[in-house]
Amino acid sequence: MSPVDRPLVLALPKGRILDEVMPMLKSCGIEPEAEFAKDSSRKLRFATNRPDLEIIRVRSFDVATFVAFGAADIGVAGSDVLMEFNYSELYAPLDLGIGRCHISVAEPQDLVESDEPRSWSHVRVATKYPEITKRHFAARGVQAECIKLNGALELAPNLGLCERIVDLVSSGATLKANGLVEVERIADVSSRLIVNRTALKTRSDAVAGWIDRFAEASRASAA
Ligand code: PRP
Repeated sequence: MSPVDRPLVLALPKGRILDEVMPMLKSCGIEPEAEFAKDSSRKLRFATNRPDLEIIRVRSFDVATFVAFGAADIGVAGSDVLMEFNYSELYAPLDLGIGRCHISVAEPQDLVESDEPRSWSHVRVATKYPEITKRHFAARGVQAECIKLNGALELAPNLGLCERIVDLVSSGATLKANGLVEVERIADVSSRLIVNRTALKTRSDAVAGWIDRFAEASRASAA
């Protein structure tokens, strides 16, 4: 099969965003094979009712990497991931209006009472987002030393790894359950449809068709 005849590959993130993506897939007319809905399945690549479209299910950070390198043609990625990687090969034409949350700096409640963020010159931060964190602090002349973690960041201040974290906040329940409070909001986040720039040129009709269908589905879900 020549590259232009193969099905397009849509990369979707595992986890809670997927619950918000599913109704959108339905309104785009995409029905994944039955195994896609089974949490117990070890499969990662799925057929759909559309012979011209396959789905892969990967970690949210990896959606951007698969699409940037052309291993997937389109995907759904958080703007947090796009900000962190800044891949030039990605085009993000559409805010899907799902996965809304924000990236914030948080610290223990008892530190907040004596803390003065404007006086910081150096901070040590646990985060999944070292690039966003360094850029954010550098813009106000603060040097950020980042300790990269991949999850459960909220443990770090309580166990003495560092005093502060930079992480996603959605409901705020995880911060609260771990005695942390937000002290600075870095950016609002939502999920975007992303497209590989080469695929947009070489398979423009197919890719543009999916951008239009997702745009329509996102308008319908916002209405
Ligand atoms: C994210 C984030 C926080 C939590 C915030 O983690 O890293 O830990 O959600 O959500 P809340 O404000 O609604 O409590 P996620 O659940 O995606 O898991 P992870 O830590 O494995 O990335």
